[in-house]
Amino acid sequence: MSPERASLTVSKIRDGTVIDHIPAGKALTVLRILSITGKEGLRTAVLMNVESRKLGRKDIIKIENRELSSKEVNAIALVAPTATINIIRNYVVHKKLRVEVPENIVGILRCPNPTCITNRPREPVTPRFKVTSKSPLVLQCVYCGTIIREDEIEKLLTA
Ligand code: CTP
Ligand code: ZN
Repeated sequence: MSPERASLTVSKIRDGTVIDHIPAGKALTVLRILSITGKEGLRTAVLMNVESRKLGRKDIIKIENRELSSKEVNAIALVAPTATINIIRNYVVHKKLRVEVPENIVGILRCPNPTCITNRPREPVTPRFKVTSKSPLVLQCVYCGTIIREDEIEKLLTA
């Protein structure tokens, strides 16, 4: 082994998306947001808790032959605000995007208030939240005013 610390090596991909600088331990939540279960047949690498100069530890996801919509990129920001999205074409980083928490969140999360109109059993209204603070992340339901804090987001994801 080289004198440098041991590392997990995963090969470069030809075409697809590399989501880098994910906070350590959040990769599976990011996959959930993207609705990637493994059954789609996409060749995917998930690295968890690997060394990062910037973050100490980080997670990385490499997905072949899949690009992300802007809605998916915004949703990733809710659980992985430090993530970098690299779009790979013919082995080259074609585009590098920082994720950004949007002003409004439509869908993706459910409102925790059981009496909110977004939780009506019949004809439910699509949940909508206004981002009232980006760091720390604070969201507010547009319909009932319920506040959601950063640590509650994961359990409110609908995907
Ligand atoms: N990558 C890959 N396949 C490619 C090209 C890049 O899997 N064909 C991965 C790299 O391993 C890295 C990420 O995509 O995890 C971003 O690549 P690059 O921009 O070359 O790396 P850095 O300069 O280290 O990125 P940053 O500045 O965002 O830290
Ligand atoms: Zn509500």
